[in-house]
Amino acid sequence: MKAIVLVGGFGTRLRPLTLSAPKQLLPIGGVTMLERVVAKLGAAGVEEVVLSLGYQPDMFRSEFADARCAGVDLVYAVEPEPLDTAGAIAFAADAAGVSERVLAVNGDVLSDLDIADLLAHHDRFGAAATIALTPVEDPSRYGVVPLDDDGRVRAFIEKPEPGTAPSNWINAGIYVLEPSVIQSIPRGRKVSIERETFPALVGAGTLYAVQSDAYWIDAGTPAAFLQVHLDLLDGRRGTVESGVDRTARVDADAKISRSFIGSGAVVAAGAEVIDSVVMAGVRIAHGARIERSIIGARALIGDGCEVTELSVVGYDQDVDAGTILRAERLPGPDNW
Ligand code: GDD
Ligand code: MG
Repeated sequence: MKAIVLVGGFGTRLRPLTLSAPKQLLPIGGVTMLERVVAKLGAAGVEEVVLSLGYQPDMFRSEFADARCAGVDLVYAVEPEPLDTAGAIAFAADAAGVSERVLAVNGDVLSDLDIADLLAHHDRFGAAATIALTPVEDPSRYGVVPLDDDGRVRAFIEKPEPGTAPSNWINAGIYVLEPSVIQSIPRGRKVSIERETFPALVGAGTLYAVQSDAYWIDAGTPAAFLQVHLDLLDGRRGTVESGVDRTARVDADAKISRSFIGSGAVVAAGAEVIDSVVMAGVRIAHGARIERSIIGARALIGDGCEVTELSVVGYDQDVDAGTILRAERLPGPDNW
């Protein structure tokens, strides 16, 4: 089976990290987000993944120079301009010659959803397309999907106004699509699968969905990106991943708690890192305190800095000694 993985977005909500690398090439505990997504598809029997690329495609080509990722063959489909989700799927299918039933996946979703179950459900109902659903507390930043009793989708409401969603079951960003659906997508312009393709299938009565409360997270915001790491450290996804890379150098008088410390990072005496992500090659000087924050690769955090409350420091940033960052991004929006 083949899968199309959407990885062409700009990753705006994860800036400044995504100024240096596309969202799906950001490391999650030392393994890129994309490798984690593709490994899951591989485990479900997918043998070829078509990467639907737009933003910074060359970075994907050099990261996976042999066109293999997590044991799966990669095909690159680079859009000339962003075509939005359905436009991107159609472009990728045409570029890679996919004419059979296919899985399509948002490239920033990490989950333990059962793909075999999704496929079985799709077959059972003879659906044109089947969407995996997951429950969330606040559905307003997702696609909301109310169902009939028989599992048929009653409506697809992308990003409803807060408080108006008819259900807290949302589109998990994992679909089975029949060739007829891909053929129906108009070519050569932006088409949103959430706002155009799925609502049309609702009208035809051929869109189905399957609910699952397996682990699921869209890692596309700083809060969620941090949460993915904490979930791995806490063992919420089965095995507990170790937080401190073997090649990191942490002084005996530094305190690290519930955090990922990337390869080659250096943490000096008296520094504290709590509930945070510190990427490869970062240097944290004496007495600095990092809490609930993300430090991009190779950044330098000076003596006595405080970086807290979901602050995000970009790749290669030099943060002067004594700087206090609370709920801030460095560089900030003025420099994006
Ligand atoms: N190739 C390509 N071209 N990829 C794109 C484009 C495009 O024009 N636009 C977005 N993408 C990719 C992103 O890189 C990401 O992997 C995926 O498509 C989804 O885009 P996001 O920007 O992350 O969307 P979202 O998180 O706001 O909402 C989507 O995901 C939710 C679940 O995580 C929607 O599908 C919602 O309905 C869904 O609930
Ligand atoms: Mg997303």
